[in-house]
This record gives sequence, C-alpha cells and structure tokens, in this order.
Amino acid sequence: MGYRSIAIDGPSGAGKSTLAKRLAQELGFLYVDTGAIYRTVGLAARRRGIDPSDAPAVGQMLPNLSIAMGYGEDGLQQMLLDGEDVTQAIRENEISRWASKVAALPVVRDFLLGMQRHAAQEHNVIMDGRDIGTVVLPQADLKIFLTAEAGARAERRCRELLERGQQADFEQVLREVVERDRRDMERETSPLRQADDAVVADTTGLNLEESFALLLEIIQNRLGDGEGRHE
Ligand code: DC
Repeated sequence: MGYRSIAIDGPSGAGKSTLAKRLAQELGFLYVDTGAIYRTVGLAARRRGIDPSDAPAVGQMLPNLSIAMGYGEDGLQQMLLDGEDVTQAIRENEISRWASKVAALPVVRDFLLGMQRHAAQEHNVIMDGRDIGTVVLPQADLKIFLTAEAGARAERRCRELLERGQQADFEQVLREVVERDRRDMERETSPLRQADDAVVADTTGLNLEESFALLLEIIQNRLGDGEGRHE
C-alpha cells in the first residue's frame, strides 16, 4: 500500500499547526509544517537585506541557500538554514510578514515544491499550508480546509504571542491577520483557496479539544481507524 496523505489548508491562526501536530501523533503520521519552510526563506531574505517582494533578487538568493527540514527526537519538525537551527527564529512575529511576501513569488513556490512533495513520497503525512490540497498534493487521501473567523484567529494569535513572552496588541494583530489573509488569498500564484473536494472545518467558537475531536472524526470517517499506518 502506498503512503497516505492528509492535506490541511486554511488561513493563518485557524489552529492548523497545533491540530495537525496532535493529529499526526495520534495517527502515527509525519507532520509537515510547510509554513515553516516559507518562513525560513523569509528569514534568509531578511538576514541578507533582500527586499522580499523583489522576485529577481530573491530568485538569485535561492540557489545559494541551504534549507533542510529535519525531525528531532521528540518527532517535531526542525528547520535548518545554512546548517543553523532556525526553528525558533522563524517564529518571531516579524518573520510572518517576510514569509507571506516571499510566498507570493512563483520562483519561491517552485523552488520549494519538490521538497514538500518528497516528504509525502516517503512517509504517511499530515501536511499543513495554504495550497497543499490544490497544488502540492492534489491526490491527497483527505483534504481539510480549516478556518475560523478573523477575530477568533487574532485572539488565538495574541494568546500565543503572550505565552511566548512577546508583546501582543489585539487591534494590531487583527489588522495583520486580515492583511495576511488578503495577501495569501489574492496572490496570483497558488492563492489560499479551498480545494473543490475539501471538507470544511470551522473552529470559530470551538476550543482546542473540540477542534481536535472534530478533525479526528472527519479523518476517521474518511480513512478508517489506523488504516493509514504503512508498517
Ligand atoms: O502558516 P504560517 O503562518 O507559518 O505560514 C507563513 C506564511 O507562508 C504565510 O503568510 C503563508 C505562507 N504559506 C504559503 O504561502 N503556502 C504554504 N503552503 C504555507 C505557508
């Protein structure tokens, strides 16, 4: 039997990564966070002083970068940039903007496509992002479009930032969420959109446990208990 894949797409702050990580543990799948890969490219552009919207400049930078995805003993994804572990550095709020800008460039998306597909050829995966069901893994066994109202997502983002000891102003975070949604949905290349065959899960008003239960039910209905295991 081939490997199974579950694609989870949706706007930022819908809980994709937290939920996908837990689901992957539950099912014994590998969790692939594709946003982290775009964040790593954004971080690289920032460190090199390259305008993240300047396609030729970013395109020239790409072949000189070494970007690698690894997994720690805890099973969690780590990102390496030129050999340095940048797993934490890419989480800074500032990097979200850089990631969103480089992610709008076709040259960047093409460059990262093979790396994402490769992971799904060698493992059962739960992969989250914006274009997984539409572009990266159009043959995924299950596609989930995970969403929530912008206000609910901004609230969660604020809580996350505060937990990490970073500053969070709700109005500003909400503005950023709305702006990032717009940029992710309006870009020409691989915009964020729901795949025609995706199941929609709206987590507005649901807490983490409730959201988790909802997704697990969707997955079990579609894939059956434990059927995805390759061993
Ligand atoms: O999920 P995230 O916030 O870590 O993603 C960072 C940025 O990368 C976000 O603005 C959207 C972009 N992204 C993308 O365009 N395609 C993906 N598959 C994943 C993320």
